[in-house]
Amino acid sequence: MVFVTRNLSPDGAATGMEIRSVRPDDLDAVIEICQSDHVNRGTMRLPVEPRAWVENRIKEVPGTYKMVALRDGAVAGYGELVTFPGVPRHWHCAEVDMIATHPDHRGAGVGQELLDRMIDMADRWLQIRRLQLFVWTSNTSAIRLYESRGFGIEGTMKDFVFLDGAYADAHVMARFRPAPPSQDEG
Ligand SMILES: CC(C)(COP(=O)(O)OP(=O)(O)OC[C@H]1O[C@@H](n2cnc3c(N)ncnc32)[C@H](O)[C@@H]1OP(=O)(O)O)[C@@H](O)C(=O)NCCC(=O)NCCS
Repeated sequence: MVFVTRNLSPDGAATGMEIRSVRPDDLDAVIEICQSDHVNRGTMRLPVEPRAWVENRIKEVPGTYKMVALRDGAVAGYGELVTFPGVPRHWHCAEVDMIATHPDHRGAGVGQELLDRMIDMADRWLQIRRLQLFVWTSNTSAIRLYESRGFGIEGTMKDFVFLDGAYADAHVMARFRPAPPSQDEG
């Protein structure tokens, strides 16, 4: 499976960013992302993890869309959108399970680009009504990003994760797809 998108900056010029499905030869770059300090802190990753864990992580899993953001050809971010094909009553739900930017590419729109691609997949192709995620309450840049794309905080889980020697809380955030038009209206 390969999907590619190209974004336009507000003045209409191409940003040089692409999203495509992850490939085995992206492994080293995805390891650099997963092992970086800000990703370690913002996710469930550990400071030191076996290479095989990441190798396994990027393998194909039915219903999970694993993608990289390329910035001028370099792997600049990694994301996973998880759906639930084996659970019929949960078919309308999906989860942003991972969104992470390479340490050399932060603050350049990579996180936005990955999230926008996942939202586009969810809203316009996968018939997802509820898109959800967990985020540590201290992760203000991620929360800002999610809120800018219509996610709202639904609740807070106390002591959800052990983070750098202390327990930390997590928000559950969700975004609901606007009602789709019928094709006659669209
Ligand atoms: C959260 C995370 C994914 C954000 O990624 P990012 O690529 O740095 O995010 P973006 O560049 O898209 O946006 C970050 C900021 O840069 C700004 N920005 C976006 N494009 C820009 C550009 N071309 N020039 C300057 N600034 C830009 C955004 O407005 C945003 O500003 P804000 O934080 O003040 O709102 C990243 O910090 C990360 O990998 N964190 C660790 C993993 C993690 O916590 N993931 C979330 C788990 S729930």
